[in-house]
Amino acid sequence: MKHSFRISFAFVLLHVLMLSHNVFAQYAIPDKMKWWYEDRFGMFIHFGSYSYLAHGEWAFAVEKWSKSNYQTQVSSNFNPVAFDAGAIARLARNAGMKYIVITAKHHEGFCMWDTQVESFKDVTGTKAYDLPGFTRFGSRDILKELKDSCDANGVKFCVYYSILDWNHSSQTIYNQNYSTMASDSARASYIQDMKAQLRELIERYHPAIMWFDGDWTYNAGAPTPSSWWTKTDGIDLYNYLIALDPNLVVNERVIRGYGLGDYECPEQQIPASPRARPWETCQTMNNSWGYNQWDNSYKSLKELINQLATVASRDGNYLLNIGPKGDGTVPSQTVAQLTDFGKWMDVNGESIYGTTRSPFKTEPDWGVFTKKDGKLFAHILTWPTDGYLRVSSLTTPVRKVSFMNDPATPIQFIDTTGVITIHLPAVAPDVNNSVLAFDVTGVPAASKSYFKVTRIVVKSIRGTTSISVGDTLRLTTAISPSNASLKTVSWISSDTTKAIVSQEGIVTAKGSGSVKAIAIANDGTYLRGELPLTIVSATGVKDESHAIPGTPMLHQNYPNPFNPVTTISFTLPEKSYVTMKVYNTFGAEISTLTSGEMPAGQYSTQWDASGLSSGIYYCRLQGNYFTATKKLILMK
Ligand code: GLC
Repeated sequence: MKHSFRISFAFVLLHVLMLSHNVFAQYAIPDKMKWWYEDRFGMFIHFGSYSYLAHGEWAFAVEKWSKSNYQTQVSSNFNPVAFDAGAIARLARNAGMKYIVITAKHHEGFCMWDTQVESFKDVTGTKAYDLPGFTRFGSRDILKELKDSCDANGVKFCVYYSILDWNHSSQTIYNQNYSTMASDSARASYIQDMKAQLRELIERYHPAIMWFDGDWTYNAGAPTPSSWWTKTDGIDLYNYLIALDPNLVVNERVIRGYGLGDYECPEQQIPASPRARPWETCQTMNNSWGYNQWDNSYKSLKELINQLATVASRDGNYLLNIGPKGDGTVPSQTVAQLTDFGKWMDVNGESIYGTTRSPFKTEPDWGVFTKKDGKLFAHILTWPTDGYLRVSSLTTPVRKVSFMNDPATPIQFIDTTGVITIHLPAVAPDVNNSVLAFDVTGVPAASKSYFKVTRIVVKSIRGTTSISVGDTLRLTTAISPSNASLKTVSWISSDTTKAIVSQEGIVTAKGSGSVKAIAIANDGTYLRGELPLTIVSATGVKDESHAIPGTPMLHQNYPNPFNPVTTISFTLPEKSYVTMKVYNTFGAEISTLTSGEMPAGQYSTQWDASGLSSGIYYCRLQGNYFTATKKLILMK
């Protein structure tokens, strides 16, 4: 009795974790920061008495105001009667932002709450320099309103505080940027008062993050009048805060540059790869933090979404700023952008929250990756023009691929030779960022079997670069590394009126002049190799048309993957009896493409796989003394 048998392949994959490479090392996240690390996306709010002037939050310094003029002409007129904490908390929640950081005191020194700390007075020393004490706004506590609205909307409430203070009596603005401290005793009491204010903020509003800034009057050594904030002060401040609330998260700007605080804050920039420790970039939607009436240059929604996806893929957090107007209302363009952002997050939030860095060392040119247990997410920011997305294989098999906006419809894919090839629809489901979710077992990790093409060199037979009109020339490629995945190339000519190059690399000269034959690696890298050719009209130039290689060759089909028709070519150096057949992966014969005695030459035939299902097929060319096989990928 004949046994039918099935060959099953067992792949035992041994993982060697290359912890030396920072890109793959995960951060050690302390328990108190787990929420922050998972939430990924927050709202920054720059709101202060500068919002009334509407020239941005640096107006005091840039426009060289005196303390007294600024206080009476700007701060005292600040009257945010239309501030609607509920609307802002909902705006954040609906945009998908999970925490809000609001400026309690910016460099201008104006306090947004009713501070009981005595020294924060106006220049006359008679009035508290804060919202209830210095304006006609009344006794509303907008920080408390926002804290309560955040709690009601499941958004974490956090506070920004500037160490530098241009209006405090201890300091005088210096060099439009720094402040000079009046004396050692003024320094000591300012630091004490600042700590008292921070205690007030923590005890009253229980912020989840204390977000510092204005630390740049710092130095590592002993204090001086203009570098009065020291490393010791920064360390002491951090310890003081953690003693008040051990769960408080504190950014690095207690004093930056020394690895202090709980996370790094690259400002208006996205690092090229994950950092050595957790990080959060803060970004503006236009070019201003505080409301600036002249600034309407908003980033596009696509740019904002791409920033968030890129940040998450590099294992960071994204803090996106809004600058309410002096009356407390949020500019309509800000509301519109965030509302649309929220629509994207409603569909794709799972590819952001709780995700960590891309499992791959390099980023493809079409987008970025995020991952979590059981899922890899491909954020397609630029839609590939050839209809295929190529992703390096993972260490565990992919079970399903689908778009986040349509999880019920599986997308066809083939995972072979270290590359997952996905057949994309012609049109991107989302113009801003279409996210493909890959279902896997465990946390996705890059397979070591993918090797990207790094170099492609085009050569011609016998080094010929000059042919005459009507002649042909065979070109070949040398690809590095030699074990690269997806070594297939496509050929083009820089000027098809002078020469055309077939997909098998055969140049046909059409008109005299110079032209480049270009080979492009098809692994998604678009790496090119070029060979300049001269086409001459003179006769008598060496005819290369019979320059057929010495061994029979079966060329890789083109296109591959294909649907449903592909072209397969082969070259015979001498007369031979050949058969060319297609088999499926179980070895069953599917089709005979060629059979019979054939003279030396180049042959091309088409295979139409209509009616067959997606998968891998093998094409075998058998001659008198040789066989050659190529893998064909049918993707419907
Ligand atoms: C810069 C600005 C400041 C702003 C901060 C946000 O330091 O000077 O106004 O608050 O960025 O990170």
